[in-house]
Amino acid sequence: MKHTYFVLLAMVSLMALVSCTQAEISVIPQPVSVVEQSGTFELTPKTTIVVDKKTEELGYQLMNMLAPATGYLPTVQQKKAKSNCIVLSLNSKLKDLGTEGYKLTVTSKKVLIEAPEKAGVFYGMQTLRQLLPVEIYRQATVKGVEWKIPCVTIEDTPRFQWRGMHLDVARHYMPKEFVKKFIDLLAMHKMNSFHWHLTEDQGWRIEIKKYPKLTEVGAWRKETVIGKNTGKYDGKPHGGFYTQDDVREIVEYARQRYINVVPEIEMPGHSQAAIAAYPELGNTDKKLEVFTKWGVNPNVYNVDDSTIAFLQDVLTEVLELFPSEFIHIGGDECPKTQWKNSPKAQAKIKALGIKDEHELQSWFIKQMDTFLDKRGRRLIGWDEILEGGLAPGATVMSWRGEKGGITAAKAGHDVVMAPNSHTYFDHYQANPKNEPFAIGGFLPLQKVYSYNPIPKALNAEEAKRVLGAQAQLWSEYIPNAKHCEYMAYPRTCALAETVWTPLEKKDYDLFRERLETHLQRLEILDVNFRKLDKAQPVIGRWKSGQTDESFKPLQWDITKAVKEAGTYQVMFQYTGGEHRLDIKSVELLANDKVIAEDAHPGVTGGSTKDNVYTVSVDKLDKNARYTIRAVVRSDGGADSNGDVFLAKQ
Ligand code: ACM
Repeated sequence: MKHTYFVLLAMVSLMALVSCTQAEISVIPQPVSVVEQSGTFELTPKTTIVVDKKTEELGYQLMNMLAPATGYLPTVQQKKAKSNCIVLSLNSKLKDLGTEGYKLTVTSKKVLIEAPEKAGVFYGMQTLRQLLPVEIYRQATVKGVEWKIPCVTIEDTPRFQWRGMHLDVARHYMPKEFVKKFIDLLAMHKMNSFHWHLTEDQGWRIEIKKYPKLTEVGAWRKETVIGKNTGKYDGKPHGGFYTQDDVREIVEYARQRYINVVPEIEMPGHSQAAIAAYPELGNTDKKLEVFTKWGVNPNVYNVDDSTIAFLQDVLTEVLELFPSEFIHIGGDECPKTQWKNSPKAQAKIKALGIKDEHELQSWFIKQMDTFLDKRGRRLIGWDEILEGGLAPGATVMSWRGEKGGITAAKAGHDVVMAPNSHTYFDHYQANPKNEPFAIGGFLPLQKVYSYNPIPKALNAEEAKRVLGAQAQLWSEYIPNAKHCEYMAYPRTCALAETVWTPLEKKDYDLFRERLETHLQRLEILDVNFRKLDKAQPVIGRWKSGQTDESFKPLQWDITKAVKEAGTYQVMFQYTGGEHRLDIKSVELLANDKVIAEDAHPGVTGGSTKDNVYTVSVDKLDKNARYTIRAVVRSDGGADSNGDVFLAKQ
């Protein structure tokens, strides 16, 4: 008895210690290793930043991170200092930490950020900033704050080399200043790839000197459809583009933040704006305007040699502007109707001795692959580039689930995971009833967090082909910067942890605790993030093997969560496995007697739909045992996993 008491006491004290630690250190993404010591380092007006030649630029960046809020302007010096200094140092002995890893040691005398490469020092600086009081993110002097950093040793390195975020500035143009803010926020989250979606049916957004009409004509549409192709239009012209100087400015801005900008020039589909500017690029004589509706569009580039040459001219200018190894050529959603009906396209199929329009698309992409390869670059495209045969050097961005990525990885191609099931940030974050209008889907924070970019179907060797993952912000229904931030945050925080933190260190509940602090930083940075929902307790889980193809009941005890009479929502959230969960009905039982039922078909995983059930407790019986019974099946097999949430309405 006594023994049990002490074990309990020890556990309670340990838990108190752990939670106190978490309250103090809230770094997102969670580092690989955090070892705390007692004591603090305090920034003062006399703190210096010690650099060498190689870390000098970083020293000034750190000064700019610390000076506005503290009001101290730390000297950046190459002279060594004994104490009250922050040292930025390259250390090749730490090469095991990789090109982006770092070691951060804080003692009461000094802060040392060491890394094998500069990128690591930069990430160490991001962590250091998050160890300070959240006020450090203010851009004006804050009085009365002690700028203390807890003594700690952090060793850190990312799980994936591609930690990306996409932004569609073509459906809705986003101003240059916002793009910079977007990049700043990515850097804060240790993301390193900005996929800039620059061309679309609805707008061409990058100046190309050789073809000025691309922006003179292609960057502007006369109006925009309201809602989902309702047939009603807003009557307001929309447009804008980035000059080559703007592009250079943004690329340099990103470079300073260790972010690679991957430009996307869409082809052969999603190209109506370019065809509106240069009709000879199209397949028909019909005069086109910049598209004013949404969706997959039949108007695609023709396959003439002159069109290939035109696109390669465009890419030539793009390569001058973007140092990125990877150049994205789209490749998605290219309807083949116009090629089927085009004598020229059919003649091309014959002349090339290929089978059909899918192989023609493959030929088209190969022209770009060869072109880029010759210039030392690599082609990346959406998973449709697998159609008709993948170009030899191509990297696949898997968006229609993970299937394309798996196929490509097994065939020895590199892959970036961007599945619409877990990384489409244009999808709803919560019940659509209470959210701004969105394209559809359901991607709550926890589902983003639950994502593992390495599919089970890959063996260890194949898994190395997965460079990482990224999220997508398609902007059909995201008309402005503030709305964009709302869709991006805090889901980007969850994604950042998914691509940086080792799988075994990921813990949603701890992440959510750290997020409470982190959101204060975003608030200070004037980010229009979506506020967290009240914690939704997970009341149960289903695991692989518990379900199969026939509908069967699963049951969870919720007695502890039922504290009062009222309406409760039960939500099923798929988290992994090969098979989605179909739900037939949910019953609430008190002492094994059904007291409420909600029967309707629901799905979670794949395309999640109607996965929330409502049941009521009319009168609370404090002595009753309450359970939830759901009749469910997993589609196609027994490999389905997920969480069941209960929320009081
Ligand atoms: C895509 O969402 N069409 C790549």
